[in-house]
Amino acid sequence: MSKITVIGAGNVGASCAEYIAMKNFASEVVLLDIKENFAEGKALDLMQTATLNGFDTRISGSTNDYSKTANSDVVVVTSGIPRKPGMTREELIGINAGIVKGVVESCLAHSPNAIFVIVSNPMDTMTYLALKASGLPKNRIIGMGGILDSARFRHYLSQALNCPANDVDGMVIGGHGDTTMIPLTRLAGYRGVPVAQFAAADTLAKVKADTMVGGATLTGMLGTSAWYAPGASVSSLVQSIVCDQKKMFPCSVYLEGEFGESDICMGVPVILGKNGWESIVNIDLNDEEKAEFAKSAAAVRSMNSAL
Ligand code: NAI
Ligand code: 2OP
Repeated sequence: MSKITVIGAGNVGASCAEYIAMKNFASEVVLLDIKENFAEGKALDLMQTATLNGFDTRISGSTNDYSKTANSDVVVVTSGIPRKPGMTREELIGINAGIVKGVVESCLAHSPNAIFVIVSNPMDTMTYLALKASGLPKNRIIGMGGILDSARFRHYLSQALNCPANDVDGMVIGGHGDTTMIPLTRLAGYRGVPVAQFAAADTLAKVKADTMVGGATLTGMLGTSAWYAPGASVSSLVQSIVCDQKKMFPCSVYLEGEFGESDICMGVPVILGKNGWESIVNIDLNDEEKAEFAKSAAAVRSMNSAL
């Protein structure tokens, strides 16, 4: 059984803690936030669901006391601020970069062997920063975005095909952004049969477009970004690491020539196990998909240059 720390007890952080506990694979989850008593309150509320939901995971909260996170196996970083009116992208990156860097360093001081999962946006850039700032081996820094985008892709595909989402397979690679993600429609299947056999090209083009703005659509409806599917996505990723499941998920990882890119963190399929991401799975992309990946990399690189 394992100890998981979740930094940031806001919407996404609390949802991560809830889904991790509900899946009952970790012995302990520590929620940490800078807001006085906030993480403690979320932890207490969640612990009062244990008898109702039947989990044994102990959830505790801490106001910025990193000693409570000591010896974590996995650290999930959700701390940060959203973009506010009038704020430039560079200003947002500057603030969140300071938060993410500080948090990773503080966690590492108490959990030198932890694997880090970065959620804070802009996620690919924050993952790159966490890797460079920590100096950790590349397999221990994993950005979460593609799992969420793929879940949204499968949802929209299932609606278009009028079938259960679990009957549909599909993956989104590239950057975790409205214009940088790449839903791989050509490779998506309905129980192994290409989806193009069941839906017209314009329907599938709409599925792709809806997936790409999936996060923005929810932000428009909720007034803040989503948290249920992000939390569930993180819990699946963490479970594959902690339980050494060797599941394949698209995650943002450091590329050194794979998919034609280097010195960048971007979403590609990886195998997740006890060592973090253990290998990258190559996909035989066609020319159009390769061009989309190169365009996505250029946009992520431009974001990284604001660091
Ligand atoms: P939120 O505002 O509800 O929670 C953020 C929490 O971080 C707050 O409670 C805040 O007090 C805390 N915090 C800020 N600075 C901190 C510090 N230095 N140390 C500890 N805690 C600190 O925001 P929400 O909705 O939970 O989103 C969190 C982040 O996750 C945002 O950057 C958001 O854009 C991103 N996100 C990423 C997704 C992905 O797929 N990668 C999906 C959804 C959200
Ligand atoms: C999402 O995709 C905004 O990254 C956040 O919901």
